[in-house]
Amino acid sequence: MTFYGNCIFTSRLCLKKLAVNDLELLAEWSHALEANGLYLSPENLDIGHLTHQLKSGALWNDKEKRFMVWLKTNTPIGSIRYWTVSGQFNSVIISVKIARESERNKGYGTEAQKFLIKHLMENENIRQVQMYTDINNIPQQRCLAKLGFEMQEAVQYQDQNIMRNGLLFTLSGQTFARHPIYRYHNE
Ligand SMILES: CC(C)(COP(=O)(O)OP(=O)(O)OC[C@H]1O[C@@H](n2cnc3c(N)ncnc32)[C@H](O)[C@@H]1OP(=O)(O)O)[C@@H](O)C(=O)NCCC(=O)NCCS
Repeated sequence: MTFYGNCIFTSRLCLKKLAVNDLELLAEWSHALEANGLYLSPENLDIGHLTHQLKSGALWNDKEKRFMVWLKTNTPIGSIRYWTVSGQFNSVIISVKIARESERNKGYGTEAQKFLIKHLMENENIRQVQMYTDINNIPQQRCLAKLGFEMQEAVQYQDQNIMRNGLLFTLSGQTFARHPIYRYHNE
């Protein structure tokens, strides 16, 4: 993994800081049901609002950052973002979306999350990552198992205007430090 200011490079992906040129696609994906899948509610983002948010720094600051996920072959396939848990400066929540259905089940979701987590733990002084997922979102739960997350509790959480029956998973700094996926797959 290499981190150059605004990009995290992995073996197959580049997680790039969200830029003005990405907003049209981000807005399109935020409306499309197939881009969100069955277990993520469309955010229905408005491009004018997004432009304002990007310019004001609301999408990239000390507490929150949003990346586009690109294949190294230069195709954008999704987005990933994190934000600080309220009142816990070294805990973050991550949300990921591989928006192109044809690119799911190729390991990209796991890879994007893995290297964002490595970056956060190794460079940003983060000590805990939390992920909320719908109770029926088996692909994401499979990713989280591969990434060493532990299920904490069943929760109801707000996803746009829907209350979902979900699960809260966490990864601690201690588990990160000893889990093989982060120690021995360092490409
Ligand atoms: C969840 C998501 C990020 C996973 O990304 P991905 O690139 O497809 O994930 P990966 O290919 O790395 O891993 C998916 C795993 O789920 C497994 N899987 C997929 N569908 C499955 C199913 N119906 N039943 C059981 N396992 C399934 C795959 O086999 C794979 O596991 P494996 O590596 O052990 O074989 C992606 O599906 C997505 O963006 N979905 C829409 C948005 C979303 O739900 N985001 C998460 C919100 S919490």
